[in-house]
Amino acid sequence: MTSKEKPTMRSLLFVPADAGAKLDKAMASGADVVIIDLEDSITPERKPAARQAAREYLTAHNADAKRPRLFVRINGLDTGMTDADLEAIVPGKPDAVLFPKAEGGASVVHLDAKLSAQEAIAGLAEGAVKVLAQNVESAAGLFLAGTFKDVSKRLIGMTWGPEDLSAELGAESNRDDNGFLTEPYRFARSVCLFGAAAAKLPAIETVYVDFRNSEGLRQDTIAARRDGFVGRLAIHPAQVPVINEVFTPSAEQIDKAKAIIAAFAANPGAGAVGIDGKMFDRPHLVRAQALLARVGRLK
Ligand code: COA
Ligand code: MG
Repeated sequence: MTSKEKPTMRSLLFVPADAGAKLDKAMASGADVVIIDLEDSITPERKPAARQAAREYLTAHNADAKRPRLFVRINGLDTGMTDADLEAIVPGKPDAVLFPKAEGGASVVHLDAKLSAQEAIAGLAEGAVKVLAQNVESAAGLFLAGTFKDVSKRLIGMTWGPEDLSAELGAESNRDDNGFLTEPYRFARSVCLFGAAAAKLPAIETVYVDFRNSEGLRQDTIAARRDGFVGRLAIHPAQVPVINEVFTPSAEQIDKAKAIIAAFAANPGAGAVGIDGKMFDRPHLVRAQALLARVGRLK
C-alpha cells in the first residue's frame, strides 16, 4: 500500500478521556480525527474512570453519521496498562489506536496480536482497529524507526513527540530561547519523516504547545508541510482550522499539479517537461499525483 491510499488526516485533536464536555467540543471542532487520550493527560489513579468514559463515548458516538474519525491513545507496552486499555476500548470500536512509544516494527506486531485477541472477544472483524504509531519517543525507538515497513495492515501512519524523548535524554529543554526545537529533536523529527517514507506511510507532525499563538502555529505547520508531513496533532480546538487550512491544497497548487500531469500526458515517454520556462521531471510528477490524490480524499 502506498501513502496515497491512506485516509487523509490533516488535524488530529487530543482530548483527555475524562474531560467530559470537552469531548463534544472536540467532535464539533472540524478536526478530521479526535484522539481520546488515556495516556499522558490522565493521571494513574484516573485511568480506570478514563477507560470507562472512553468506552462509553465511543459506544454512544461511533454510529453518528457525520463524525470525525475516533482514535484512542492507549498507554505504551512498557506501562503494563495496555491490556486493560484495549479490553475497555476495543468493544467501543475506535477507528484506530494511537500507539505511544512504539519501538520499531516488532512493537507493532506485538500490539497487533493484542488487538486481534480483543477484536475476537468483542466480535469485531480482525483488523477493524487501525494503528497510528507514535514513534521516535525514546532513544531506542529512534534507532528502530526504519523497521515499520509491511509489519501490519493496521498501520496507517506515523507521528512523533519530543517531550518523552527530552525527559529520557535528561535535557533541560527541547527548545531554544526563540521557541525552536533544538538539534536532537529536529533530528528526531527528521527520523520520523524518513521512517514514515521508508514504510510508505503518511507522517503526522507533533503538537504545537503554544496554543494561543496561531500565527506561530501557522508558520510551524507550513514548515511541516514543506518538509513532507501531511497532518498535525492538535491540543486545542482553535488550532484545528489553522492546521486544516495549511494541509488543504490551495487552488493554485491544484492547478499547478494538473498542469504538470497534463504536460507529461502530452509528452509520453518524456523524462522532463518545461512549463512556463521551468523544468519539471519525474519526482515533480509523483508529487503532483500525490497532491491530487489527497484532494480527492478530502471531498
Ligand atoms: N478538546 C475540546 N475542547 C477543548 C480542548 C480540547 N483539546 N481544549 C480546550 N477546549 C475547550 C475548553 O473546554 C473551553 O470550553 P468552554 O469555552 O466551553 O469552557 C474552550 O475550548 C476554550 O478553552 P481554553 O480556556 O482556551 O483552554 P483551557 O484552559 O480550558 O484548556 C488545555 C487548555 C491545554 C488544558 C486543553 O486545551 C486540553 O485539555 N488540551 C488537550 C490536552 C491533551 O489531551 N494532552 C495530551 C496530548 S499532548
Ligand atoms: Mg508522551
